[in-house]
Amino acid sequence: MTAPLRPGDPTIVNVALGERAYDLVIGRGVIASLGARARALRPGAKAAIVTDDIVARLHLEAAEAGLAAGRVASSRVVIGAGEGAKSYAGLERICEALIAARLERGDLVVALGGGVVGDLAGFAAAIVRRGLDYIQVPTTLLAQVDSAVGGKTAINSSQGKNLIGAFHQPRLVLADTAMLDTLPMRQFRAGYAEVVKYALLGDAGFFAWLDANVKDVFAGIGAGGGGGAAREHAIATSCRMKAAIVARDERESGERALLNLGHTFGHALEAAAGFSDRLLHGEAVAIGIALAADFSVRRGVLAPETAARAIGHLGRAGLPVRIEEVAGDWPDADALLDLMAQDKKVKRGKLNLILLRDIGHAYMAPDVDPAPLRAFLVEKLKPQ
Ligand code: GLY
Repeated sequence: MTAPLRPGDPTIVNVALGERAYDLVIGRGVIASLGARARALRPGAKAAIVTDDIVARLHLEAAEAGLAAGRVASSRVVIGAGEGAKSYAGLERICEALIAARLERGDLVVALGGGVVGDLAGFAAAIVRRGLDYIQVPTTLLAQVDSAVGGKTAINSSQGKNLIGAFHQPRLVLADTAMLDTLPMRQFRAGYAEVVKYALLGDAGFFAWLDANVKDVFAGIGAGGGGGAAREHAIATSCRMKAAIVARDERESGERALLNLGHTFGHALEAAAGFSDRLLHGEAVAIGIALAADFSVRRGVLAPETAARAIGHLGRAGLPVRIEEVAGDWPDADALLDLMAQDKKVKRGKLNLILLRDIGHAYMAPDVDPAPLRAFLVEKLKPQ
């Protein structure tokens, strides 16, 4: 287990991107250091906090107090919560608010929230005044282990998720693990799908650890808080893996694509569900990982019992692993294939799927033939 230097010290992971390198600071209560860290990065800068109405009620005061403690003047932009905000209209609103707040080059945007706020505020930071610096303060498990790290920013197109965006690395990621105490269990679970993704794609030892410690990772969620070392270890290990992959392949020309394990199936399901609460992103990823594992078995590259181990773990964590577990109608296999083809993991019309050879060993299968994939989906859409 990766321990901080002293109990109570945050864990610090560096994303080694040369002059754009930055730290991920992970630990309980680190929000109090937001202002001191912002000031050290950009002395004299002011900040605009972008957040949503739900996160604002829970954490805005702490973020503002953290900034004030470091003598950083701040303003706030509060948007409505939900994936619907990742739209042209949502982006326009934030850009106009940042300009109205008189943010200049050298000032800081602080994205305080989950994946939606992070993607949206990060994209606004990428384009307002041709680029402002920003700090990610992720408040969900999913954002702490995935979306706040690595500089992908985006809004959705009516034709698919995250199709309009930019790579724009934050200057700092401050992941306060105590903020997860207030996260609803369903949201924490959805984020946990991304944690399992890291283990499956590249670290069999981490998977074994998760299998043995899943209860401790979930400790305190939905029960008044107090999650401890296991939660922090799961987050820090995931962040370390993501930081290393992003440092080696920032623009996803190769290895970074492995982070899309479960996402091509998952994004198609999310799109089919209308990007609604019917299916959260992490739930779609869990089903997507299960489908990728089953399809890997179908292609003869993964042992069935290994797929069962991976899928069994997701199921034991309370995540859905079959399409039929999500209530309501689904489009047919052709429509799902169409949605998969619209995803960004497509190169010149050929579908690239991330598949599994073993626990801890994902690989990119390029040019996947649509015919067997269609037959597979037809089967998966039938009640099992
Ligand atoms: N969420 C996948 C990536 O950042 O590449």
